[in-house]
Amino acid sequence: MEFQIFSGNVSELNTDCLVVTLDQSNTLSTSAKAVDEASNGFLSARVTDGDISGSAGKTLLLPGVSGVAARRVLLAGGSPTLSVFEAGKIASSVGSTVAKIEGSVAVDFSALFSESLPQEWWAEQLVLAIHAAQYRFTATKPAKEESKQASTLIWIGDDITNALNVADAKGLGTSYCKDLGNMPPNICTPAYLAAEAEALSKEAGFTCKVYDEADMEAMGAGAFYSVSKGSTEPGKVIIMEYKGAGDAQPHMIVGKGITFDTGGISLKPGAKMDEMKYDMCGAASVLGTMKTIAAIKPAVNIVAIITSAENMPAGNASKPGDVVTSLAGLTIEILNTDAEGRLVLCDALTLGIRDYKPATCVDVATLTGACMAALGKVNSGLFTTDEDLAGELLAAGQTSGDRVWRLPLEEDYKSGLDSNFADMANIGGPLAGATTAACFLSRFTEDTRWAHVDIAGPAWDGAGMTKGSTGRPVPLLTTYLLNKAV
Ligand code: BES
Ligand code: MN
Ligand code: ZN
Repeated sequence: MEFQIFSGNVSELNTDCLVVTLDQSNTLSTSAKAVDEASNGFLSARVTDGDISGSAGKTLLLPGVSGVAARRVLLAGGSPTLSVFEAGKIASSVGSTVAKIEGSVAVDFSALFSESLPQEWWAEQLVLAIHAAQYRFTATKPAKEESKQASTLIWIGDDITNALNVADAKGLGTSYCKDLGNMPPNICTPAYLAAEAEALSKEAGFTCKVYDEADMEAMGAGAFYSVSKGSTEPGKVIIMEYKGAGDAQPHMIVGKGITFDTGGISLKPGAKMDEMKYDMCGAASVLGTMKTIAAIKPAVNIVAIITSAENMPAGNASKPGDVVTSLAGLTIEILNTDAEGRLVLCDALTLGIRDYKPATCVDVATLTGACMAALGKVNSGLFTTDEDLAGELLAAGQTSGDRVWRLPLEEDYKSGLDSNFADMANIGGPLAGATTAACFLSRFTEDTRWAHVDIAGPAWDGAGMTKGSTGRPVPLLTTYLLNKAV
């Protein structure tokens, strides 16, 4: 998307759509007033006639307003004292309307800016909403015709070109994450993710290292291998490194990349099993985040790890009762082969922490149905004992709208993983499943500032024709990492 900055008389602005606002008490913004005056009161007549009210999320598209240079005027409701939820509604309703207007759109949201939701915030939310509205998955179902799209955004306000470019890069990364998440599991295999990571790294100048399943086995990563060995698709651990801050300790992100989760021998029921192609959305969001990082090149060092395998039932698949030895040397009794995410993650965490000594480590994973049951599709679950890291991720979630909700990770829950036959079992009892999964991972990260984000709910939308990957948590991860840049 192209960006321009404009400050001047909006009624003379040549654009395909000019967006102006009116507030809760139906008062027109300064720009809306200018349009109203140039058009002999056309906008105020619409308000008097009740065609639109100023509540958040309401819009009215008006073509060919006389006396105004813009081809269309979009009148949008909104006030400066809004909750983040209402503000997000405005950005997404305006974004989805203007996204399909061919050419340029000019937006004056200045009446909405506030201390808590400043200009840059509105710009980012709008740009992300436009990207979301323009997103189409075309890899296996080509679009019938080229749909009309806005290609230039004219920002009416201060010169915030930098914020607009950052938002655009976040949009790019989010759409890339969606593409990977939506890709069918016969195409999107661990080898496919490795090839994507290699291509992105080549283009962006990242270093990229791929450990094959055999490398992992030879290394002693028995937990990872216990999952990957049951599939004819070889598992991969992929490590991308971006250096934007010299010798500073890197920040690490780790994504679960189960390209299909059948449950293994602890087979899942058949209904909706296709949705288990989304079990690589952690990995997809790590790649999406690195796509954004490649476009922005911030002053921060990042190590991005994807731990990828297919979880299949097979003659050589792991069985309930098997005991394996993880890379950390801890033995694990596999009581349920469907709790595979933590098995591929724990060895990736050990490997990453051992080889890169990160300043912080955040893993993202579609880890438990329990987390989705607790938080639905609104918030991802956040688990950490590091208060500062919790604060940073909660804040990044609030500003990006890609929210996280903190759930407990306390000592009391750890005994749930006790095993008679190994250092730990891979599942706890029937209660607090999201927390016991996080407890399992915590055994492999003890001295590192680490947080676990369970994205089982937010990573995809399950319903009808909106079914598909949401691109989350790319906005969360990019916002969090960009805040780390010096
Ligand atoms: N990938 C699933 C978690 C999941 C389930 C994500 C539904 C999204 C929607 C994970 O591998 C899994 O199967 N977890 C089990 C753990 C259980 C066996 C302890 C679960 O949540 O049922
Ligand atoms: Mn599973
Ligand atoms: Zn899984």
